[in-house]
Amino acid sequence: MGDSGVVARLGNMKALLGIVAGAGASYGLYKLISREGKRRNKKKAANETVRSSQQEEVKVQPGSLLAKVSGLDVVCFRPGEAVADDIIHQSPNNLEPQHLNMLLSCLQTGTDPSDRCRILLTLGNAAAFTVNQNLIREFDGIRIIAAFLSDPATEVKIQTLNALNNLCMNIQNQEQIKIFVPRVLELIEMSPVNSELQLGALRLLTNLSVTDKHQHLLKGAVTLLLSLLVVSNESLQVQTLKVLVNLSSNPDMIDDIVQAQAPASVMLLFDKRTAAAVLLRLLTFVGNLKAWRPSAQVAEELRRKQDGLFRVMLDESSQLHSRLLQLLSHPDAEIQAQPWKSQTGHSSNDGFSDSGRLEFSHCLNSIVKRS
Ligand SMILES: *[C@@H]1O[C@H](CO)[C@@H](O)[C@H](O)[C@H]1NC(C)=O
Ligand SMILES: *[C@@H]1O[C@H](CO)[C@@H](O)[C@H](O)[C@H]1NC(C)=O
Ligand SMILES: *[C@@H]1O[C@H](CO)[C@@H](O)[C@H](O)[C@H]1NC(C)=O
Ligand SMILES: *[C@@H]1O[C@H](CO)[C@@H](O)[C@H](O)[C@H]1NC(C)=O
Repeated sequence: MGDSGVVARLGNMKALLGIVAGAGASYGLYKLISREGKRRNKKKAANETVRSSQQEEVKVQPGSLLAKVSGLDVVCFRPGEAVADDIIHQSPNNLEPQHLNMLLSCLQTGTDPSDRCRILLTLGNAAAFTVNQNLIREFDGIRIIAAFLSDPATEVKIQTLNALNNLCMNIQNQEQIKIFVPRVLELIEMSPVNSELQLGALRLLTNLSVTDKHQHLLKGAVTLLLSLLVVSNESLQVQTLKVLVNLSSNPDMIDDIVQAQAPASVMLLFDKRTAAAVLLRLLTFVGNLKAWRPSAQVAEELRRKQDGLFRVMLDESSQLHSRLLQLLSHPDAEIQAQPWKSQTGHSSNDGFSDSGRLEFSHCLNSIVKRS
């Protein structure tokens, strides 16, 4: 990069980047001044006399590259100085390449978790735009950002996942992000049940599994995903099932899915009290698996695995068939309305459109026919 010298200098000085939105900025003014930052400022003020000799603010030369890049008011401190970063920027699609590069430098040199969060949030918002997705990759930003998947602060990890999520909507970026799948799976395993961290991680896996290109990376994760299903709340169940549905729609993945372990309690989810958004995806998942026909020999082998998914969900001895019949053994109107009505008390609040209902009964009918 042509201005890598400037960037290095900025990094060294721990740049305080203030890009103030002009009057023309239309939307998305992100004001990223944390309470903590303000508190720190006050503390500093109390200590001013002690520190003023070392503080040495670097004044931005009018017309300097730095001033041009940021719009105005770039205040830099010497290394080691606690900096209250105010990052106020325009709508994320107005960020220029230099801004992204600076944010990445600040991210690497900063030590304060709340600064990291704000920078990651800004980068994540910027990454909603294709042009920025490419720029961030070209600046080696994916590697830089993903390093914070191992940050000790939970909130930093969450913001990292969100930023990667937006970056992931780009095929070339996926090539780099896929390297971090093992780490993302580890986060799911190690984080508390129903945590934002798990949700963010599952969102990232959903994005990575939308095409079948990287699905093989999740071959070993099916057991983990199935166990999440039985312990998680509705939001996480839905997110988990999005991944499982994606994987099960790929014939190359079926072998691994049917060999995974499945908790027996997964069958309890085939119940009209289960939230409709969960039930529909669960039926889609099992429908995809049912479309697969093992040879007698393969079936025999799979059957031997006591807690294997095949035995729990697909084999003749599975409860699946009777559970599906239970879902069906209601007058039509009732099956189609019951699962969500009993959940929410309002048929209008069930997250299902009429076409969703239709899809639901189609799904159910076709699996029952196959079983
Ligand atoms: C004031 O500065 C001293 C030395 O630089 C430091 O140890 C102390 O924690 C500071 N006090 C506050 C309130 O920031
Ligand atoms: C991918 O992630 C982004 C950001 O979280 C989200 O807006 C988008 O809907 C996701 N795409 C899919 C297919 O899940
Ligand atoms: C489930 O947990 C996630 C993550 O903590 C939370 O954001 C979400 O609101 C919860 N959803 C429900 C339906 O309780
Ligand atoms: C994967 O899941 C996403 C979100 O549910 C969906 O939009 C996409 O069509 C799925 N892809 C495949 C191949 O099933």
